[in-house]
Amino acid sequence: MPLMPMRPLLDHAAENDYGIAALNVNNMEQIQAIMAAAEETESPVIVQASKGARSYAEDLYLRNLMQAASELHPNIPLVMHQDHGDSVATCQSAMDMAFTSVMMDGSIDDKSQPASYEYNVNITKQVVDIAHSRGISVEGEIGALGGVEDGHGAGLSEEEAQEHLTDPEEAERFVAETNVDALAVAIGTSHGAYKFTKKPTGEVLRISLIEEIHRRLPNTHLVMHGSSSVPQELQDLVNEFGGNIKQTYGVPVEEIQRGIKSGVRKVNVDTDNRLAITGAIRRLFAQSPEKFDPRDYMKPARAEMQKVCAARMVAFGQAGYASKIQPCTLKCMVDFYAK
Ligand code: G3H
Ligand code: 13P
Ligand code: ZN
Repeated sequence: MPLMPMRPLLDHAAENDYGIAALNVNNMEQIQAIMAAAEETESPVIVQASKGARSYAEDLYLRNLMQAASELHPNIPLVMHQDHGDSVATCQSAMDMAFTSVMMDGSIDDKSQPASYEYNVNITKQVVDIAHSRGISVEGEIGALGGVEDGHGAGLSEEEAQEHLTDPEEAERFVAETNVDALAVAIGTSHGAYKFTKKPTGEVLRISLIEEIHRRLPNTHLVMHGSSSVPQELQDLVNEFGGNIKQTYGVPVEEIQRGIKSGVRKVNVDTDNRLAITGAIRRLFAQSPEKFDPRDYMKPARAEMQKVCAARMVAFGQAGYASKIQPCTLKCMVDFYAK
């Protein structure tokens, strides 16, 4: 099946009450791990690349790897999404590189500070106009997360991030004014491994805010960023073989499942896969120091990432739905948006 836009996938997830993992990639092995997990669990998938990933892998490699993924896995509905586009130009270049969905993250301005509402609406709307005329889906963000992604982001601390949580009333206006297909909300999560210093309570991880936003915007697909669970076993795996991850806590899978019950349809996960890959490589190096063929450590790394991806696909509820989704091209979405 050719790469498909994100909107019909999220619509299907909303109709059937499930969430979809959006998994970050930078190289071939990560794409293979996701596709293997999708086959194993019969899941539709969203594969996403940040600006940093695009620069690391180079657009042409990425585009052709994703093309290979869609040809090798014709029964898996597959979306290629720009994660955290920071400007109209970044989103435009993604669209020109066959991405079928883009995120315009206007929550952070061009000086890496939390953006004004007006800045965010203006830049997001520009991207929506271009993207929808080409059938491409758009995710926007209102409120700002903690952590930094690829130098893009305000690098808000856990405390500062609590001051930039999504305002439900603003979220409602933002969707009406931009016509985004999906809305990322800030509910206390942050990017990276160091999200919470203890298992999060409802005070710091505000799933109740999602419930309120969903009440106001029942037809908008919500997105949770910073949704790695940072499982203890992956921290232990890295540390057992010489790593130095300080004790930390992520977003418990059961809290994500609560979010999914309240309109969360896209769940962004990157860090858990990074930990899985690093843990597997460290283990191989420690246990077989004589090995030096990259395949000897990339294979277990890929397998460890596949395990994480498959577990999330099952937990988020997308497993089993691959064959239930109607193939949909960008052209059919052009007609949809024109109505
Ligand atoms: O948004 C954060 C993702 O984990 C991507 O991270 O910008 O380092 O590729 P990156
Ligand atoms: P994590 O760092 O929690 O995996 O979040 C990834 C993300 O939000 C990508 O946009
Ligand atoms: Zn993110």
